[in-house]
Amino acid sequence: MAKFVIHGRKPLKGEIEVSGAKNAALKIFPLALLTRGTIRVSNVPEIEDVSRSREMLTALNYEVKKIKKGIFEINPPTGGQKKFELPSNLVNKFRASIMFVGPMLASRGKVSFPHPGGCVIGAGTRPIDLFLDSFHKMGAKINAASNYYRLTAKKLKAADIFFSKISVTATESLMMTACFAQGETTLKNCALEPEIVSLAEFLNSCGAKIQGAGTATIKIKGIKKLRGGEYKIIPDRIEAGTFAMLAAASNSGPVLIKNCVPEHLEALWNLFDKIGVNYVLNKNSVKIGRSKKLLSCDVSTHEYPGFATDLQSPYTVLMTQTHGSSLIHETIYDRRLLFTDSLTQMGANIIMADPHRVVVNGPSKLHGRKLVSPDLRAGVALIIAALLAQGKTEIDNIYQIDRGYERLDERLRGLGADIKRLA
Ligand code: EPU
Repeated sequence: MAKFVIHGRKPLKGEIEVSGAKNAALKIFPLALLTRGTIRVSNVPEIEDVSRSREMLTALNYEVKKIKKGIFEINPPTGGQKKFELPSNLVNKFRASIMFVGPMLASRGKVSFPHPGGCVIGAGTRPIDLFLDSFHKMGAKINAASNYYRLTAKKLKAADIFFSKISVTATESLMMTACFAQGETTLKNCALEPEIVSLAEFLNSCGAKIQGAGTATIKIKGIKKLRGGEYKIIPDRIEAGTFAMLAAASNSGPVLIKNCVPEHLEALWNLFDKIGVNYVLNKNSVKIGRSKKLLSCDVSTHEYPGFATDLQSPYTVLMTQTHGSSLIHETIYDRRLLFTDSLTQMGANIIMADPHRVVVNGPSKLHGRKLVSPDLRAGVALIIAALLAQGKTEIDNIYQIDRGYERLDERLRGLGADIKRLA
């Protein structure tokens, strides 16, 4: 199995570019099921989850052509048998495969698939009840047995849907699906993430009638068809925030993080002010300089625009380098703090109160260890810890990291990191 070998404590400085947002890119491939005509998409991160999405479309007879780095053209099938089944081997690999279900149902009238795979960060397998309940409200018949689902709907009808939990993918999925429902659908208690706004803007440019994306209530008027178009993936705010925390924790900059949208990370800058990080925000970049004394600060994860759960693990590593105690409260997923056990093995002083809360006492000297990446975000946090640690760290199971970060080792080497990939 491929792994990273890291020798820590090298000064990190220079420039690093942020890729296109994983969680925006993963929605554009399923969206293609709704459009007639070509979609040309740019700034696509070349990561494992995107490869799986492309394979999914190819399995459904679509043509996904790479034009050049980061630019893909998606063309609808010109022949072949219409398929109604999502390939189990792909659905099992990533949670965002759920995004194909609504568009399949809306455009083909039926779809079958197993329970989606992906990072094990929530209770048991991550639930899909918000999707199923909403499709049911729109008139779909649902047959579920032994973790396998068959959905049918001759014609979807508009519905008033209140999400009992705020969910990014459920909001996006229903926004897409409702484009082809008869009448006007209202979604309430929606997620507000910038990726949702970007998706709605693109859908509208293809002929959709969506209002309110980026607010808690979204209205979608049903239409007959959507055309293709051009879509540029927005910069990955989680990657930008992760690099900013790496630079702050290593405190050896300056590090310039380029190609990002600083206003997507206000919750993080607010924390940086309290911690005492020396940073400058520009229009499309952030500069992290050297700071004097870094102070600990409590945090609770929250839906956007609050502090993202996807930034919690690098933040926890940052808190091992700050002075004082910080309470980290992970409110969204109940397995996302389990990786702190690896930080403790590296020398961090962390007390777990319960699966949702840890107290980090800093600063601590970290030392290298042999570790396994449990999931995407924890994996990247372990890389940050390894870059701060004395000695050698080996991180196994890096497929989990490659799922969401493109050529991360190469880009970190550009800052001076000593990180090698062993195949
Ligand atoms: N939930 C349900 N039922 C559902 C769907 C979600 O109970 O049918 C619950 C989840 O268990 C969780 C909460 O709702 O407690 C929020 O989950 P959400 O649905 O928002 O997660 P998601 O839409 O599956 C997206 C990102 C995640 C990110 C969350 C932040 C994509 C593909 N994934 O997930 O990204 O953590 O929003 O809320 O957009 C990552 O990039 O590492 C990642 C996990």
